[in-house]
Amino acid sequence: MLSVTVIGGKASEDLAKKLSKRLKADFISSDLRIFPDGESKITINANPKKGKIIIVNSTYPPVDSNLMQTLSLIAKARQFSSDVISVIPYLGYARQDREFLPGEIVTLSVIAKLLKASGASKVIVVDIHSQMGLKHFDIPIKNVSAVQELVNHFKKLKLKDPLVVSPDLGGATRAEEFAKLYGTDFIALKKQRDRKTGKVEIMTLNLDGVKGRDLVLVDDMISTGGSIVKATEFLRKQKCGKVYVACTHALLIDSAENKIRKAGISGIISTNTIPGNTSVVDVSGIIAKAI
Ligand code: R5P
Repeated sequence: MLSVTVIGGKASEDLAKKLSKRLKADFISSDLRIFPDGESKITINANPKKGKIIIVNSTYPPVDSNLMQTLSLIAKARQFSSDVISVIPYLGYARQDREFLPGEIVTLSVIAKLLKASGASKVIVVDIHSQMGLKHFDIPIKNVSAVQELVNHFKKLKLKDPLVVSPDLGGATRAEEFAKLYGTDFIALKKQRDRKTGKVEIMTLNLDGVKGRDLVLVDDMISTGGSIVKATEFLRKQKCGKVYVACTHALLIDSAENKIRKAGISGIISTNTIPGNTSVVDVSGIIAKAI
């Protein structure tokens, strides 16, 4: 039988262990030293057997260091096998998938080239920011959806007449899928982001049908919390019930979690693509299925 080895990068060690258990695969951990100048020195703690090798490492902050560590692990695995799957549960740079302003670089396409050049034969990501990002890869890439897992969690919280809300039109398809699986309806707000300052504004004016209902704001990721805070402030003015957030990737930069809670959010539920306080939904099962 073909041997399967999971190598866990430091950014996703726990998830990598969970995945190896599900796949009944060998698990190899890695050690990391950061040199005083910021360079990453990464070591794997055993040699993998020939066969399938799965590297698991997310590229959340420090994004570039975690990316470099991922590339290094792939290159190391390639010395043992030509079948190297790079699982990047949270793929940083996924929002840089097109040229919004003249002169911008589509950095996601650079990442795609780096992953291939390092020796990845396939990439698996969870809830990539947009489907458009997948087009930059010329090696096989699979995008796994965590929506069902998030919905399973929400089904256990008895919400009052829940309504699913996307904070922007770009997330409408995700919110629609969430609502369908949850067995309720959805709406999408209109959000505008200043491409230079990053500031967001909700452009939707009035809403019918929100009053008294508990809401689930569904987004792929929370970074500064700006989008969620603006959406919550607007929705609370419409006299809604409780507001919860469901997201796959909770980066929660600086005081984002505090800002969101202060805005009146009753709960933030995210997955373990990024480990943290809110990451209560495990994605190892859906990744195992994709493999
Ligand atoms: C944007 O289109 C994304 O789906 C998220 O809404 C956004 O990246 C979240 O960023 P922040 O928390 O900084 O508003």
